[in-house]
Amino acid sequence: MTEPLNNIQSFDPFNENRPLRILIVEDSDLDVELIRLKLKKEFNFIDEVVYDEKAYSKTIEVFNPDIILSDYSMPQFNGLEALKILKASKIQRPFIIVTGAIDEETAVHCIKEGADDYLLKDRLTRLPAAIRQSIKQKRIAVEKEIASIDLEFSHLRLRDLLNRLEWIRDDEKKRISLEIHDQLGQELTASKLGLFYLKQQIENKDKSVERKENISKKINELIELSSNTIKTVRRIAHQLRPVILDDLGLIPALEWMIKNFNENTDISWRLVADINSLEFSDKFTTAAFRIIQETLTNVIRHSNAESCIVSITKDKQGLFFTIKDNGVGFDLALARVSDKLGLFGIEERIKPWNGVLKINTGKDSGSEVIVTFPLNLLKN
Ligand SMILES: Nc1ncnc2c1ncn2[C@@H]1O[C@H](COP(=O)(O)OP(=O)(O)OP(=O)(O)O)[C@@H](O)[C@H]1O
Ligand SMILES: [Mg+2]
Repeated sequence: MTEPLNNIQSFDPFNENRPLRILIVEDSDLDVELIRLKLKKEFNFIDEVVYDEKAYSKTIEVFNPDIILSDYSMPQFNGLEALKILKASKIQRPFIIVTGAIDEETAVHCIKEGADDYLLKDRLTRLPAAIRQSIKQKRIAVEKEIASIDLEFSHLRLRDLLNRLEWIRDDEKKRISLEIHDQLGQELTASKLGLFYLKQQIENKDKSVERKENISKKINELIELSSNTIKTVRRIAHQLRPVILDDLGLIPALEWMIKNFNENTDISWRLVADINSLEFSDKFTTAAFRIIQETLTNVIRHSNAESCIVSITKDKQGLFFTIKDNGVGFDLALARVSDKLGLFGIEERIKPWNGVLKINTGKDSGSEVIVTFPLNLLKN
């Protein structure tokens, strides 16, 4: 089963309409004042100042800074240690070393360890620009990470979906081979035995009326058995793929499904369709049928509805499937992050035709599933 992976919060402090939170790691009061002075004109901000490890670790958690400005070396603490603690905390925040003096090698080392920038205290004019730049870079890095985790999550779900399809296929194969073996096999064996019986009766010299009647009775039995066998073959073929879909197209196949549901569920179903369903490609017809089948199965399994209307309409904008039930509704956000595959499978299935899935629902307000396709690809 796939669990959602994404616990990373997005990071966009300039967009949040609040003072910027700056954590200053500095032991010199004078330097703190100089930094504040440089930032006063540029930012609306609040700050916290720390200069030892304990206060730093705690402040990262409690103050939740947007950016950290750290001196490189202090009597009890240094910039690299501060950087390591930040990394270990998994809180992704920009970190700028602001130092009195730093040789180039140390500066490179700090950047390698994950500092976003470094600058010298006698060049503080660059500080506001450095803050803006490193916040922007961090925001982009966090967005990228979220996107790549989302991508990984959807790969995992796709894998689940494939596994499930494989499983369903295997299950279907098993069921159908059982039916072929048990049902069809039995019927054909009975026909064969009947034919043997007939052969014996015909070869027999005794041509009495009684014998003739027996033969005629057996032939009638065999005719009936053949009709049943034809039905069985049809039923098995139907299970493989509703033949009606091939012969008559989407709408008759849906009518057949809805009729079946009206007879076998407590929900009152209605199909409203006003299109010529033969104009679509076989591939699209099958996908459309499966999409609607999954949506209706959800209505049966989850909605507790009394009625459901399925409407298929077409205009210049596209083809629309709307499935509306008057049931209990659901929390869409929860359903999307669950490890369930039905809705996810629909989203995957509609992609080749640039379909769009929209769901209107809420607790106790029924559900409306709308799938829209632009018309240009439906013949492919
Ligand atoms: N018409 C509906 N009415 C109420 N709840 C629904 C409806 N359709 C979907 N849901 C909710 O959305 C969830 C996700 O649906 P989805 O089809 O993805 O999964 P599922 O049906 O639970 O399992 P499966 O993966 O077998 O399809 C469901 O578990 C259910 O809670
Ligand atoms: Mg489902």
